[in-house]
Amino acid sequence: MTAIRSVVLGCGSYLPERILTNAELASRIDTSDEWIVQRTGIRERHVAAEGEFTSHLAIKAARAALHHARLDAQAIDLIVLATSTPDNTFPATAVAVQEGLGINHGAAFDLQAVCSGFVFALATADSFLRAGTYKRALVIGAETFSRILDWNDRGTCVLFGDGAGAVVLEAQTEPGKSSDRGVLTTHLRSDGRHKSKLYVDGGPSSTQTVGLLRMEGREVFKHAVGMITDVIVDAFNATGLTADDIDWFIPHQANKRIIDASAHKLHIAPQKVVLTVDLHGNTSAASIPLALAVAVKDGRVKKGDLLLLEAMGGGFTWGSALVRW
Ligand code: ACO
Repeated sequence: MTAIRSVVLGCGSYLPERILTNAELASRIDTSDEWIVQRTGIRERHVAAEGEFTSHLAIKAARAALHHARLDAQAIDLIVLATSTPDNTFPATAVAVQEGLGINHGAAFDLQAVCSGFVFALATADSFLRAGTYKRALVIGAETFSRILDWNDRGTCVLFGDGAGAVVLEAQTEPGKSSDRGVLTTHLRSDGRHKSKLYVDGGPSSTQTVGLLRMEGREVFKHAVGMITDVIVDAFNATGLTADDIDWFIPHQANKRIIDASAHKLHIAPQKVVLTVDLHGNTSAASIPLALAVAVKDGRVKKGDLLLLEAMGGGFTWGSALVRW
């Protein structure tokens, strides 16, 4: 029995030019390179320039993904953009991307699941493609978290960075087995009881301001590993695949300690883990496609490889995906 699968045709990313190092942060606030590296694994992050918006980063990442896929933008009929830092309250940043790419057919919309945004967007696009509603999708994670940080709060401002990553998906008929190429399974979860542990203290309906990120770091840490590993086990159970089958673990890049603990609990060898948190920081919805683009570009990820993606973030939201490249 055959199945329609969302096969990845290409991926791409973009990072703003400006690099902000731990040393530079330590010259401004009461922190140190040693503290940040030890607690998070982060050494530096990129910060968008004045006048450089989330849509600008997203358009550059989308163009890179289309180039990698050797596809003209006109072939795309769906854009799903995951972000918590849209250009404006509305319209969706996705329509600015659509316009920037010169596309005026199909649909484009934003999706908000904070750091889990890319996995949620991938699952959403995959559902539309498998249903036959659209044929080719751009799934983008793009963020300018530097705009919603309290630069005086050392507990949060050292953690995040700006960037964008994108993948191009195409609906293709595959044999319907776990050896198929494409998105094999996705699993999404959320639990609003945790909404006050990681949030932005503003919004159009509540304060009529944008607000700044607030976080109970320890609380987030406490729940992260359990939630991540549970939803990965769901992905294994749904496909019959196991940790041994994984070629590359490409997690949301929040914190090296969370990533290491999750990989350890799942018995995934450290050499299979793609790590970019040291150079990118936590770029929220952009972190997975940014890491993916690095591992594809340097030749680690090859056709036929099995990728395990996972993320956890504000809400809480969390999710996993198994994708054969
Ligand atoms: N530099 C130096 N000292 C700091 C800094 C800093 N940047 N930030 C906090 N501290 C101090 C605190 O003030 C505190 O000092 P005190 O003991 O004198 O009061 C001490 O360090 C310990 O603070 P904690 O917040 O308890 O430190 P913890 O070990 O929990 O590390 C951290 C903080 C790194 C935020 C950790 O809790 C964490 O990684 N949590 C996960 C959060 C996360 O990854 N969020 C990303 C979004 S969600 C996601 O993507 C999964």
